[in-house]
Amino acid sequence: TTLLVAPAFAQDWPQRQITMVVPFAAGGPTDTVARMVAERMSADLGHQIIVENIGGAGGTLGAGNVAKADPDGYTVLLHHIGMATSATLYRNLAYDTLNAFDYVGLVTEVPMVVVARKDFEPNDFTAFISYVKDNADNLTLANAGIGSASHLCGMMLMSALEAPLVTVPYKGTGPAMTDLLGGQTDIMCDQTTNTTQQIKGGTIKAYAVTTPERLELFPDLPTAMESGLDGFDVSIWHGIYTPKGTPAEVNERLSKSLQSALADEGVVKAMADLGTAPSPAEDATPAALQAKLEAEIARWQPVIEAAGVYAD
Ligand code: MLT
Repeated sequence: TTLLVAPAFAQDWPQRQITMVVPFAAGGPTDTVARMVAERMSADLGHQIIVENIGGAGGTLGAGNVAKADPDGYTVLLHHIGMATSATLYRNLAYDTLNAFDYVGLVTEVPMVVVARKDFEPNDFTAFISYVKDNADNLTLANAGIGSASHLCGMMLMSALEAPLVTVPYKGTGPAMTDLLGGQTDIMCDQTTNTTQQIKGGTIKAYAVTTPERLELFPDLPTAMESGLDGFDVSIWHGIYTPKGTPAEVNERLSKSLQSALADEGVVKAMADLGTAPSPAEDATPAALQAKLEAEIARWQPVIEAAGVYAD
């Protein structure tokens, strides 16, 4: 019966600290976004939101943990587009993506950049394209596992270039970046939240952005589309979810707290410095996130099926 009427605890939730699961290693782009909003949401809620990194299986391990958590408002998931792509990529997923979660809201949408180790030979994206086509089987592409944003972008890049690169999976693109900086891997497609500092510092090489328009942050970087990669348009939206059955009052309270965090000028500035911006308040809502997830599962399913890339 507790599921039929709002349990008493929903009225005076939260009473203790909350866990925000990030399904990738610390130090990567998902972790960066999570810690930004968790800090401000904690202040708004009056109880600490602790970020817990559960990496592995392209984000599906952490998502699965939250799917099984108590729907009491004390465990939330911050995940990105991988929530949608994994629904097609994983044929034995431990959870039913559209029935295992409730929704809080969208957080931000982050552009991606095609980057390489700093001494990678090609000097521009046109040269990059022909070099990668010619040397595909000797080049490594780092990602955060099947279902990650870097995997999706890498898959699109390999399909567009018809270049089956050797892929190297990590528990997040935080650790992947460490190896790229060290020259252990050759190429990565990663979010501006994780590449801006390195690009500005010249410790990695940037070739193109994955958005339809060039970025103010890097006006000299061409878009993949203007370089001839038709339809190469991918940005990484992030959302906050709760386990299915979490009281609506709790999801709504979390959404209000998220909206206040996204309106915080410190968050707006920090996101702008990293090439992104908060989702508008009307998108930081349960209905908007649910609609986005459903639309994105439908959008990426044919792309993934055409690429024939699955995780078994
Ligand atoms: C991804 O590629 O999905 C993310 O970069 C993983 C991460 O946040 O580390």
